[in-house]
Amino acid sequence: MENLGISSEIPPGSMRGFTAGGKKILVANIGGTFHAMDAVCSHMQGDLTKGKLEGAVVTCPRHGSRYDVTTGKVVQNVSTLVKFATGKVATDLKTYPVRVQDGSLFVDL
Ligand code: FES
Repeated sequence: MENLGISSEIPPGSMRGFTAGGKKILVANIGGTFHAMDAVCSHMQGDLTKGKLEGAVVTCPRHGSRYDVTTGKVVQNVSTLVKFATGKVATDLKTYPVRVQDGSLFVDL
């Protein structure tokens, strides 16, 4: 369990990036529940913490693939044009259990 700090620093509807256990992860607060997921896009390493969070879905700032932060699943892949140009598509990311204890966030990596 890695201690990421104070949970109130991530209000509902927002996310923050952390480096913990040698991984870049993001923690999103979806309606008061915290979710952790890899923060590096599986397509071409876009920084998802710089993307847009809408509901439980984060959009990669590079080519627009979209992930559900509660499951890590790709909900919208890159366009056919981007797939053709880069020869790659996005694949599901890993999620991690998050626990809040005494106002601190702990993630199990
Ligand atoms: S790097 Fe994220 S969609 Fe391309």
